[in-house]
Amino acid sequence: MVESTKNHDAARDLCTETVRALWYYINMKKPGSANSSNELRGDYDGARADYTVPQDHAAYSAAEHERWRRLYERQVALAEKHAAKAFREGLARLDCADGIPDFEHASAILDEATGWRIVAVPGFIPDEVFFDHLANRRFPVTRWIREEHELDYLVEPDVFHDFFGHVPMLLDPTFADFMAAYGAAGERARAMDAVPMLARIYWYTVEFGLIEEHGGLKAYGAGIVSSAGETVFSTTDPDVLRLRFDPERIMRTAYAIDDFQSTYFVIDDLQQLITGLVDLDFGPIYTRYRDTEPFPADRLQDGDEPVTIRKLPEDATHD
Ligand SMILES: [Fe+2]
Repeated sequence: MVESTKNHDAARDLCTETVRALWYYINMKKPGSANSSNELRGDYDGARADYTVPQDHAAYSAAEHERWRRLYERQVALAEKHAAKAFREGLARLDCADGIPDFEHASAILDEATGWRIVAVPGFIPDEVFFDHLANRRFPVTRWIREEHELDYLVEPDVFHDFFGHVPMLLDPTFADFMAAYGAAGERARAMDAVPMLARIYWYTVEFGLIEEHGGLKAYGAGIVSSAGETVFSTTDPDVLRLRFDPERIMRTAYAIDDFQSTYFVIDDLQQLITGLVDLDFGPIYTRYRDTEPFPADRLQDGDEPVTIRKLPEDATHD
């Protein structure tokens, strides 16, 4: 890609439903409050051709670090009870409770564990750039942090969502391999005009995935673990639809970007992301369904396997 202002303007234009949905994050979603504007918040001036920017860690104010600490304290307490083991262990290794993390420092930890690194970005980036970063084990993290009045509600991913939500899982070798494979799958999805189907995989695993551990439901999706409300809702609500992981069903299921999810997909273990997705040939599924309307998110379909909570997370054993 050639760096130019035009390209960065194109990022704004590319903020279509697909791109926005891939990235769109709403913390403590408020019904009816979706941002209808296509204006992006980040400062794209000076971004490189791959949309990366310097993090400029020294530029964060004391108030911004303090805001991070409060967000961290709230979410880590919820994660103890409701997050997957891999997330909790990854978060502990990152040692990032005291302020907005330095990406270089975190990248060194990540690189040693799984070969991933963090790159700073101004905000949303075009999907082909996003796919390329992932395929090359670079995770784009927004450099700015939400304002004080946005602690519970945010219309674009910030550094707290991107780092706290996503980076801990990248320390898990299985999940790290899955994420790189996901990025590599982008090229084919683009060529086959099936990016929305691939985006639904990201949405229902990387952002809003649940995992069964010791008979209880735990969250590993970044959109869940960085949201106080959805962490509790997704793992404990007795009525929301939770289905056994089914790649084809996921690729055919619409999702909400302006409220808590009304369907979650539950994996048995992280290895299922490899055996169920990385080893799956998406091509025939794209061909069969890319021109069909997706299923509404809140309805059972024939063949669905609902998952019932056998044991609430507070009763589940931590290991
Ligand atoms: Fe995210």
